Amino acid sequence: MKNALEQIRQKAVSELAQAHDLKQLDALRVQYLGKKGELTAILKQMGGLSAEERPVVGQLANEIRSFIENHIDTRSAELKEEMTLQKLRDERLDVTMPGTLRPIGKKHPLTLVLDEVKEIFLGMGFDVAQGPEVEYDYYNFEALNIPKDHPARDTQDTFYITDNILLRTQTSPVQVRVMEQKKPPIRIISPGRVYRSDAVDATHSPLFHQIEGLVVDKGVTMADLKGTLEIFVKRLYGEESVVRFRPHHFPFTEPSAEMDCMCFACHGEGCRLCKGEGWIEILGCGMVHPKVLENCGIDPEEYSGFAFGMGLERIVMRRFGIDDLRLFYENDLRFLNQF
Ligand code: PHE
Repeated sequence: MKNALEQIRQKAVSELAQAHDLKQLDALRVQYLGKKGELTAILKQMGGLSAEERPVVGQLANEIRSFIENHIDTRSAELKEEMTLQKLRDERLDVTMPGTLRPIGKKHPLTLVLDEVKEIFLGMGFDVAQGPEVEYDYYNFEALNIPKDHPARDTQDTFYITDNILLRTQTSPVQVRVMEQKKPPIRIISPGRVYRSDAVDATHSPLFHQIEGLVVDKGVTMADLKGTLEIFVKRLYGEESVVRFRPHHFPFTEPSAEMDCMCFACHGEGCRLCKGEGWIEILGCGMVHPKVLENCGIDPEEYSGFAFGMGLERIVMRRFGIDDLRLFYENDLRFLNQF
């Protein structure tokens, strides 16, 4: 029996040394010391021993029990220590490692320049107004003094949705909507998308952007129009910019004009950029037609105003030297990343 006990001690020592986690250790505790454990099994046989042997074996058994208990405690402490170290190793952070780069988007060149244009006009006391892209014929044409049979309609290749509803071909309908809702003084710009059924090429797209401008107050004159637009061009393209106004015709302004900027490349000599003209067209403008004011419930005897409209794409192309309009809509990152 003593031998059996000693064998248990030997076996326990080697098995405990091999235990690799607390679960295994717990299983061994049950295997040796539990109610149905190996040590208990031996003790149950003690009844068959002589009166002299019994206390000797009993003492040995107790000694082995506490020996194994001690071993389990020591091993348990070791394992816990190892686990802590392992955890520290696993969670080790190398703070010198480079971080993960998150790519940040950039503003589209159209947005960049539009922001600049807005800033210039906000600085001159203008507000920004919005209008719908799906518009009534009335606002896009009729109220702007372009009746159904007017030839000006032909030049605007309109996308019709119904007889009455269309995709706006210009931002000028916003003028009407603002004047219907607000009494003078009015000073707004209105940027937005417009649509014309043009075939796509380097200078045409069925969707493009315009920026409309409208000022209505008592005593507004053509001089105010010229002064405002000249300041705008100088802020946008530089103080040295030179502009000129050419007579033109729009049904909703009278008189009407187009404003050109002297070519930046050749300074008026004529070159490839300005197609030999020496000047580059920037926008259309004029004094708001009295009929348009009347259509919006504003008395043309009391008030006068000026309006202008420009294509955003052209302004941006000139600004960055972009020669193909399609680049704006293709979302090619090689293009977009340059801004
Ligand atoms: N709406 C005109 C166009 O699309 C531009 C314009 C706006 C002209 C306002 C005069 C006044 O060509």
